[in-house]
Amino acid sequence: MAIEIIATGRAIPPKRLTNDDLADRLDTSDEWIRSHTGIGARHMVDEGVVTSDLALEAARNALAMAAERMGVSGEALAQSLDVIVLGTTTPDYYGVPATACIVQNKLGARNAAAMDVTAACTGFIYGLETAAGLLTLNRSRKRALVIGAEVLSRLIDWNDRGTAVLFGDGAGAVLIERTEASGDGRVRRGLLRTVLEADGSGAESLMIRRGGGRYPYREGEAAESPRVEMDGRLVYNFAVKALTGTVEKLLAAEGLAIDDVARIIPHQANARIIQAAGKRLGIPESKFFLNIEEYANTSAASIPIALDELNRAGELKPGDLIMTIGFGGGLTYGGNLIIWQ
Ligand code: UT7
Repeated sequence: MAIEIIATGRAIPPKRLTNDDLADRLDTSDEWIRSHTGIGARHMVDEGVVTSDLALEAARNALAMAAERMGVSGEALAQSLDVIVLGTTTPDYYGVPATACIVQNKLGARNAAAMDVTAACTGFIYGLETAAGLLTLNRSRKRALVIGAEVLSRLIDWNDRGTAVLFGDGAGAVLIERTEASGDGRVRRGLLRTVLEADGSGAESLMIRRGGGRYPYREGEAAESPRVEMDGRLVYNFAVKALTGTVEKLLAAEGLAIDDVARIIPHQANARIIQAAGKRLGIPESKFFLNIEEYANTSAASIPIALDELNRAGELKPGDLIMTIGFGGGLTYGGNLIIWQ
């Protein structure tokens, strides 16, 4: 049995904001943002567009890719889905309903269970393992969509230059399937291994403080909008360690060397985090895929967006061993080792 990624999709809002656009309204500059983060631009949704809209578009694109190959319609494929797992920090609604349920309805995936995963920028890594686990546990389930989707532009304090310059909106999706490809146990394919970790002692270093039970709405009090708050330095140091440690753990668990890995697809939080981790590990920068310059940090969406970009560009070859690494609020971190289909 194997859990294979059989298709990918993404959704990037057309509206693009450069660093210079931000510098017009904030005390910042293109030079500072580029030199401290590697970011050159970010994409933002228009008024009225929410996370489920981007998730739906990414999901439809992934379904269309698979449907074409299978010679079926995207709608028929949607009806065959057993599970939808959606990682997001910016759900359409807090708590209820899950954004995955909104996507499930609009896709017409009436046979699919649907749930959100709250693991911030590690949401896709956690989501992939969750969906793979659900397909593995019950043989009546075969197909799942794993989506990472965010509209961070809604939860940013646009007056805080420490966070406003970092984030962008977008969504990515992968369609996974339980296959019998390695039924004889000799040929290994698909999701080989996942590492999932958390350190809740760092919970306050990256959080959306308002909007939950800790700071509830009270009659008569002025309600402050929920917004992302971050201790950038602390999260930076955590991120370098999380990235380095996860690469080492995944390799050790499978008895592999870094040369066995074709590509590392890290969460796109800051190019300097990736460079620092690469230096510590002695891994050439070219092994890491980076698209942060165009999209900034799209949290749970960054890894599936990158997977779709690489996949559609034909840069992931059958048999390639790829590694995804996520880290972020929670604090959470982890990674997947995948043999591309
Ligand atoms: O995806 C979830 C995980 N998140 C992350 O991984 C983010 C991790 N953290 C980071 O990437 C970096 O810490 C930041 C990019 C957020 C900040 O970079 P830094 O090199 O750690 O800068 P800093 O916070 O130490 O600030 C250095 C200086 C400060 O000025 P002073 O006190 O030295 O005068 C800041 O006020 O840079 C200033 N600064 C800015 N200047 C221009 C902070 N933000 C900006 C800005 N433009 N946007």
